[in-house]
Amino acid sequence: MAGPRRRRSVSQAYLLDLLTSQLEGWQASTGTGVCDVVDVGGGTGGLAIALARLGHSVTVIDPSPDALASLERRTAESAATGRIRGVQGDAGNVVDLIGVGGADLVVCHRVLEVVDSPVDALAAMALVLRPGGALSLLVSQRHAVVLSQALAGHLASARRVFADASRFDVDRVTDLVQAAGFVNLSLHGIGAIADHVPEALVESETGAYDELYALEAEISQDPAFRAMAPLVHVFAQTPSAG
Ligand SMILES: C[S@@+](CC[C@H](N)C(=O)[O-])C[C@H]1O[C@@H](n2cnc3c(N)ncnc32)[C@H](O)[C@@H]1O
Repeated sequence: MAGPRRRRSVSQAYLLDLLTSQLEGWQASTGTGVCDVVDVGGGTGGLAIALARLGHSVTVIDPSPDALASLERRTAESAATGRIRGVQGDAGNVVDLIGVGGADLVVCHRVLEVVDSPVDALAAMALVLRPGGALSLLVSQRHAVVLSQALAGHLASARRVFADASRFDVDRVTDLVQAAGFVNLSLHGIGAIADHVPEALVESETGAYDELYALEAEISQDPAFRAMAPLVHVFAQTPSAG
């Protein structure tokens, strides 16, 4: 596989490729060109920079001044200057910051777990999207956290997480996204196998990275593997006008 891709883990590379192809398919089917993207809780901008490199304009909304300072530094080094802006705020005030219907794509990766109200946050994301707009949502899954805590020897923590009904799984996140009015959901597990294969093995064996990437892609929509993946990715749309 080409050099630049090797700098990402297999699951990170797969997620970025998945989102890129979903976005291209959505752009083609809706006749959308360059997008106005809002990255809710975008942090230091790893994904924002990748999206800006594709030509999109990205607004990163994050409450952390440190994350936004780091975003500014990374943006300056990335040649994406002018297509990324950082705004201090949180999931609760995206509508005030962006306006109703102000975005083509909303990204919310590994943030729904930390907001006060996932229901309100998803409702706000639906509001800032134009009709037919797209959502890329990534959340961590309870069962995978239980397993990783237990394997690390944190057994009390594993039991607490297992008992915590506010944690997400595929079914709960599907219900929440649909209840917020999103349609055409596409669900993929991320890292179900790739995150368990030691990096040394992937790096030392010729062809291992490509084989693992292919396996990760193949199993990502298998219901059993998807249910045990550390992360679940949802790509969805707001209903089209009319
Ligand atoms: C685990 S990081 C994820 C960062 C990035 N989205 C990613 O996938 O790499 C969680 C981010 O959510 C931000 N955050 C915390 N509370 C938030 C809130 N209420 N609304 C929006 N973002 C929040 C944090 O500052 C942090 O940047």
